[in-house]
Amino acid sequence: MSGSRSSQSSPSLTYSPLPTRFTDRFGLTTPIALAPMAMASGGALAAACAQAGALGLLGGGYGDPDWIEEEHRRASRLLEADPGARSRLGCGFITWKLDQDRRALDRLLASDAPPQAIMLSFGDPRPYSPDIRSIGARLICQVHTLAQVPIALEAGADVICAQGGEAGGHGMNGSESRGTFTLVPEIADCLASHSPDTLLLAAGGVADGRGLAAALMLGADGALVGSRLWTSAESLAADGAKLQAVGATGDMTVRSSVFDIIRDIPWPAPFDFRALRNALHLKWEERIEALKGDPSTARADYQAGLKAGDYSRIHTPVGEGAGLIRAIDPAADIIRAMTREALERLRLSGRPDPHRD
Ligand SMILES: Cc1cc2nc3c(=O)[nH]c(=O)nc-3n(C[C@H](O)[C@H](O)[C@H](O)COP(=O)(O)O)c2cc1C
Repeated sequence: MSGSRSSQSSPSLTYSPLPTRFTDRFGLTTPIALAPMAMASGGALAAACAQAGALGLLGGGYGDPDWIEEEHRRASRLLEADPGARSRLGCGFITWKLDQDRRALDRLLASDAPPQAIMLSFGDPRPYSPDIRSIGARLICQVHTLAQVPIALEAGADVICAQGGEAGGHGMNGSESRGTFTLVPEIADCLASHSPDTLLLAAGGVADGRGLAAALMLGADGALVGSRLWTSAESLAADGAKLQAVGATGDMTVRSSVFDIIRDIPWPAPFDFRALRNALHLKWEERIEALKGDPSTARADYQAGLKAGDYSRIHTPVGEGAGLIRAIDPAADIIRAMTREALERLRLSGRPDPHRD
């Protein structure tokens, strides 16, 4: 880890007790990024994370330009009095959706105060990188295998985010996905040899300070946190769904395409989705071809579940880290606790810690 301070550090919080190249270059006080989770990482959550010193990535998801503009405005408004925190905002997009319609990205890049970072996941980032870089925003590319790294580097990624199969939500399908524990050091070695200036984040299963400390020890410059912050007070996910995650163990999640087929979202290969393995999933997981052939019964069941708030019939999109989530807490508390625990685990707690009350 680097100990130097950044010229871009925020005026409000200028010192990181857990400094890395990621905190230095992004003006953060902790090496954590909020995952840009579709339908969950709205303006309130991104602002809370940015204020707590992390990178707050809005979940631009499937690319609704009005939603993104509104949530970006909300986050900026919430951070009006704290320009340092406002500079810690970013936005993530699902790249294969941008291939169909890129207006949301174009509108955000053309806005008065575009975010400092754009994250692209699930597709080829190269067509979008020139426009992102031309406004001075940093590019974060999420990858799932070592083989995807050269494309991200060709796109000029400032940060590569290595996502292991433990992750909640979408990722590499179950048979091809890699574990975070081996993917991160392998990509760290690859970057050290071929692109030492490119930063690395670990994603997938980082849900407490032990995970954050492990990510740093594996050679990452920080961690992208999804499921744990999905279960925060500010996340836009329904409270009933968050409670399902709090009550679950890591054994209770599964990767498949069941919920994408039921929700009629045509995700391309090689991606699928990790969520809790609930009654609706169990009913269809051995009959995927039949579900594809006639999804009407399952869709009706899902819609009825939505109406009734019955989570045995609706997806709860968390990863294996669910087993480490004990409560729905404010995002700032989660980030503080993760940072503090990581510090303790890394035996750096003798250093001044501005997160301490
Ligand atoms: C509910 C949910 C929605 C997600 N949506 C997106 C998304 O829209 N775009 C994206 O790049 N990643 C998305 N992800 C994946 C995250 O970027 C990240 O890789 C993952 O959450 C990290 O693993 P973890 O959930 O174990 O922390 C999502 C994850 C979750 C849990």
